[in-house]
Amino acid sequence: MAIMKLVFLVLFFHHANAQTLSTNFHRYSCPNLEGIVSRTTSKFISTTPSLAPALLRLHFHDCFVRGCDGSVLLNSTAGNTAEKASFPNLSLRGFQVVEAAKAAVEKQCPWMVSCADILALVARDAVFQIKGPFWPVPLGRRDGIVSRANEALANLPPPNFNITQLITSFGAKGLSVKDLVVLSGGHTIGVSFCSSFATRIYNFTGRNDADPSMDPAYVAELRRMCPPSDATTTVAMDPGSAQDFDVDYYSMVRQRRGLFQTDAALLDHSATNSYVQQHSTPLGSKSFFDDFAASMVKMGRIGVLTGRAGQIRKICSVVN
Ligand code: HEM
Ligand SMILES: *[C@@H]1O[C@H](CO)[C@@H](O)[C@H](O)[C@H]1NC(C)=O
Ligand SMILES: *[C@@H]1O[C@H](CO)[C@@H](O)[C@H](O)[C@H]1NC(C)=O
Ligand SMILES: *[C@@H]1O[C@H](CO)[C@@H](O)[C@H](O)[C@H]1NC(C)=O
Ligand SMILES: *[C@@H]1O[C@H](CO)[C@@H](O)[C@H](O)[C@H]1NC(C)=O
Repeated sequence: MAIMKLVFLVLFFHHANAQTLSTNFHRYSCPNLEGIVSRTTSKFISTTPSLAPALLRLHFHDCFVRGCDGSVLLNSTAGNTAEKASFPNLSLRGFQVVEAAKAAVEKQCPWMVSCADILALVARDAVFQIKGPFWPVPLGRRDGIVSRANEALANLPPPNFNITQLITSFGAKGLSVKDLVVLSGGHTIGVSFCSSFATRIYNFTGRNDADPSMDPAYVAELRRMCPPSDATTTVAMDPGSAQDFDVDYYSMVRQRRGLFQTDAALLDHSATNSYVQQHSTPLGSKSFFDDFAASMVKMGRIGVLTGRAGQIRKICSVVN
């Protein structure tokens, strides 16, 4: 009986913990929080719009590795190689925006707001400031103290995953097939290094061939921009509107112009395929925005530390 009670309490508190995030968590502890963060974010994005996609991606990488606990922001130390120094970090950018927002918040509300919360707000503001949807961000995350490069490799889906692997990877984080197709729409903004899709256009099966699932005209275009073994060029993932958050991603995917195998793979499953078809006209914009907002809130809840777990870091790149 006592053991049942204990099991119940453990389950109850575990559950309660996950529910502790709340949009008004900092209503009293830092009333101007959202204004401070959005002003800082907009200061950076207005001069460097390409930071907006980088900030969205940072939040994704944070949440998929050890939950949304700010671990992606930690620097390596003498004895430890951090997430940001792992292979999938390729081109993670925007750390300075999070640090600046954190410093501005610390001035008004010292030791109150975690780096993980600030990153969740910065990512939301970044999307909103480039014409994307707005969503209220549940807050109350605390910062982790561990960041390991090998965990980034193990938890972040690589760009050559097929649809089954993607569904498993997202499922392991509590995200549905719908979340997968919706959040993949984040690729409506930003850039990729040629190296992230070079195999697809140059040597797909080891016979100097291209991925047959990609539009051959697009393969040719990408080859022009990306010479073999190029390590420095970046290309827009949604050419023409790479800096506007819009619904174009799905028409790209439908036209077999998704940049990664993971983008193309959305055509290989009935549910994701029909989402792509339904959203490949501008008319799909409203429902995509609503869906994206909902899935971002869900992603932002992955594995969060709350209550007395973790800490409130002073500087996002080092533990206290
Ligand atoms: C479905 C699995 C995903 C895979 C395999 C994937 C893979 C990638 C890769 C390979 C890049 C380019 C990296 C580079 O070469 O620099 C990239 C960029 C990006 N990803 Fe994803 N991604 C995925 C999901 C997501 C999600 C869920 C989001 C956000 C909701 C997201 C947002 C972005 C953004 C905004 C960029 C551009 C970053 C920039 O311009 O700096 N991705 N992704
Ligand atoms: C973390 O690393 C970055 C990049 O190397 C550096 O600019 C920053 O000062 C480091 N943070 C701390 C607290 O040393
Ligand atoms: C990302 O990883 C590469 C090596 O894989 C490293 O050279 C680079 O400095 C890392 N970037 C960041 C932001 O740590
Ligand atoms: C996806 O990849 C896995 C692992 O390589 C493989 O076992 C599976 O058959 C593939 N599934 C599809 C749908 O291609
Ligand atoms: C293409 O792939 C094959 C098999 O993996 C490899 O032997 C060959 O060197 C690659 N060619 C190029 C140009 O990278």
